[in-house]
Amino acid sequence: MRMYDLIMKKRSGIELTSDEIDFMISNYTADQIPDYQMSAMMMAIFFQGMNEQETAALTMAMARSGDMLDLSAIDGIKVDKHSTGGVGDKTSIALTPMVAACGIKIAKMSGRGLGHTGGTIDKLESFNGFSTGITSEHFISQVNNIGIAIMGQTLDIAPADKKLYALRDVTATVDNMSLIASSIMSKKLASGADAIVLDVKTGSGAFMKKEEDAFALAREMTALGKHAGRNTIAIVSDMDQPLGFAVGNALEVKEAIETLQGKGPDDFTQLCMTLGAHMIVAGGKAKDEEEARVMLKGVIEDGSALKKLAEFVEAQGGDAAAVYDTSLLPKASIIEEIISKEEGYVNQIICDEIGICSLILGGGRETKESEIDLSVGLILHKKVGDYVKCGESLATIHANDKDKLETAKERFLSAYSIGKEPVAPSKLIKGTISCY
Ligand code: URA
Repeated sequence: MRMYDLIMKKRSGIELTSDEIDFMISNYTADQIPDYQMSAMMMAIFFQGMNEQETAALTMAMARSGDMLDLSAIDGIKVDKHSTGGVGDKTSIALTPMVAACGIKIAKMSGRGLGHTGGTIDKLESFNGFSTGITSEHFISQVNNIGIAIMGQTLDIAPADKKLYALRDVTATVDNMSLIASSIMSKKLASGADAIVLDVKTGSGAFMKKEEDAFALAREMTALGKHAGRNTIAIVSDMDQPLGFAVGNALEVKEAIETLQGKGPDDFTQLCMTLGAHMIVAGGKAKDEEEARVMLKGVIEDGSALKKLAEFVEAQGGDAAAVYDTSLLPKASIIEEIISKEEGYVNQIICDEIGICSLILGGGRETKESEIDLSVGLILHKKVGDYVKCGESLATIHANDKDKLETAKERFLSAYSIGKEPVAPSKLIKGTISCY
């Protein structure tokens, strides 16, 4: 087999066989196919597309290109959750202990963030001493003992995707539905869960700006999950404005804790309840969503979800006292209000821009090597549809550097659009796609 012939075949719009896709991925991972040939192939796929069989073959080839986590030593149905990401998305911090408190086994691998705010691991490091650098043995025994563990990317999960994603990033071939779906699902399938719940975001702060594209991605990913024999459910949810009020690592952790105490923002609570209900049903602990929601309310009301977070933080070396006393979380030295210069209804918040404000303050990474400041960020006081008076606070900004604060403040104000007419915020949950 020659890579040249495969590029020619795809360029001409002819379907690639599973053997050809395996050849291409295994040799690319082993550095036997150069980047320039793979770039040409990615561009050919970008223009000619891939059908369902080809996308499934690509996903499985990438999933098998490195370690496949074996979770069979954990009893019960293991359920994983993945979000395509967005501003203020602290879902894993609140959702995983909620669901674990309902008896679902959470064995999750998470990453650090690049750009905007941090990833789940960065956020969890707001608990002094918390570590995700645990061995597979520690990971599995912790899930068996307390029902929840989150591990960093210590294993070599889907190295083909890692290499390919970096290549796509610099060759304008990221935004192809089959390539995105296979990239995300290869990592999820290699991570070993029996069931997968996906949160596909749409809107100005999401990867998929258009709702129809988010639904198409959700359909592709659930079909890939089904093909691999994993129960896969996707919801499409709004990311046209930040989720909840807090943006920034420790601030988001605090908001997640408040949510576990039943005092969280409505949108964030609703999202956790919806995803959680799907996870509980997929894990076989409730017969339907309604029953699962009752269970989730129960673990918030009786404090067991919060206790599960504390157990989890402690098991991974973190200071669990901060779960009960959030003043122990990292704190910024400068706290100021961002005052509105206009009066009217908030009719739009450019979501990405709010994430960039947090990045400017030091809460995100410009490059993979950047150090993150866990204490900085913003607490929004006004969201889409709210009325604001001139002189009223739009948000509280937490910073450690006056210059960065001023830059972020200016950028924040230009992300808000205020008008005379009332505007309804977009619906949070846009739909559900299930493959079973
Ligand atoms: N996230 C991924 O992991 N892969 C993509 O291709 C796009 C987003």
